[in-house]
Amino acid sequence: MAASTVGEAEMNSASRGAIAGAPLVLRILAECPVSKARACDMTLPHCTVNTPVFMPVGTQGTMKGVTAEQLENLGCQICLGNTYHLGMRPGPELIEKAKGLHGFMNWRRSLLTDSGGFQMVSLVELSQVTEEGVKFRSPYDNKEILLSPEQSIAIQNSLGSDIMMQLDDVVSSTVTGPRVEEAMRRSIRWLDRCIAANRNPESQNLFAIIQGGLNSELRHICLEEMTKRDVPGFAIGGLSGGEEKDDFWKMVTLSTDHLPREKPRYLMGVGYAVDLVVCVALGCDMFDCVFPTRTARFGSALVPWGSLQLKHKQYAKDFQPIDPECTCPTCRRHSRAYLHALLKCDTAALHHITIHNISYQLSLMQSVRQSIIDGCFPQFVRAFMDRMFPSREQYPRWAVDALASVGITLN
Ligand SMILES: *[C@@H]1O[C@H](CO)[C@@H](O)[C@H](O)[C@H]1NC(C)=O
Ligand SMILES: [Zn+2]
Repeated sequence: MAASTVGEAEMNSASRGAIAGAPLVLRILAECPVSKARACDMTLPHCTVNTPVFMPVGTQGTMKGVTAEQLENLGCQICLGNTYHLGMRPGPELIEKAKGLHGFMNWRRSLLTDSGGFQMVSLVELSQVTEEGVKFRSPYDNKEILLSPEQSIAIQNSLGSDIMMQLDDVVSSTVTGPRVEEAMRRSIRWLDRCIAANRNPESQNLFAIIQGGLNSELRHICLEEMTKRDVPGFAIGGLSGGEEKDDFWKMVTLSTDHLPREKPRYLMGVGYAVDLVVCVALGCDMFDCVFPTRTARFGSALVPWGSLQLKHKQYAKDFQPIDPECTCPTCRRHSRAYLHALLKCDTAALHHITIHNISYQLSLMQSVRQSIIDGCFPQFVRAFMDRMFPSREQYPRWAVDALASVGITLN
């Protein structure tokens, strides 16, 4: 009986081009001989993703109108879908009818969905965490809703994402005391409930999320427990919430030291260029962050030497593109002067800048990856830092220390 089930699973996944019973296959192409950086091909049910990878958000108005087609043209292989918003409206039943989130958004490549928990805790003031799950009042109709681990996985199963995230008990990285341990232990219990609830283990990958705040001992316990579970990948959670950068990188490197080499590592909520490069050196493969598409300073555009404030008067007569070396649709077509003028009267400017920003993140990661494959990642990091900062005195101390900890010296 069991044998015939396996046979069926094999047939199904073979027809989708994945390996039998494994909806995720990680092939390590190169490892930096100095640091912990690595370049991999991660094969998922919808497409192969080249890592290290930055994953933009592919759904919701936060994208300033960037379409699935535009993301695809930028070379994006995996993007994020918001479980919280999609689970509320239009709702999982409708999306399931539309052949999942892939069909609904007409996105052919890979997709990662979050558990919905983080959004809920951060967006809904009156959320309350109990052993059952996260309770909150719907902002749409004020009904009380419980997001349990089972419910989160049921929604993500309906969405049909290539990678689903476990529901975890999230506490802010600046919280200390017994609540941190409680949240970490509960996240382990919720991981087991998520694993048991997954209806599609042959076609959807469930990632665990390492918690434990800024406490090394708690992180260790969480790593030890969660890596006993046979999940296809791990995320490092609970960071990037306003903690000291020294605490941040030490928790990251402690985590990658204990995560299995053969599984992908996803560092949640990290997207600043310097952070990305440093955390690749510390051994992370996947990243996401809303900031290139949603921050307060909408007139600013990412460039290899920091950012450009296109609203500044100095750009009014500047006919260069945002970045002369960038090949994105915005830089191929529009000047700084044009975008400067457009910013005064039209949200279309934001759309153009968002396209450029996403393209910047994706191509930064492509260059990082290529340098790892070429065996010259440490040189790449030095050149990157040199370009990003006007002088060595301006290198952030934490970045210098983090890189030195894995053998990349800057001075
Ligand atoms: C582009 O990225 C910069 C830097 O993070 C950000 O401040 C800005 O808001 C982004 N622009 C748009 C239009 O999303
Ligand atoms: Zn550009």
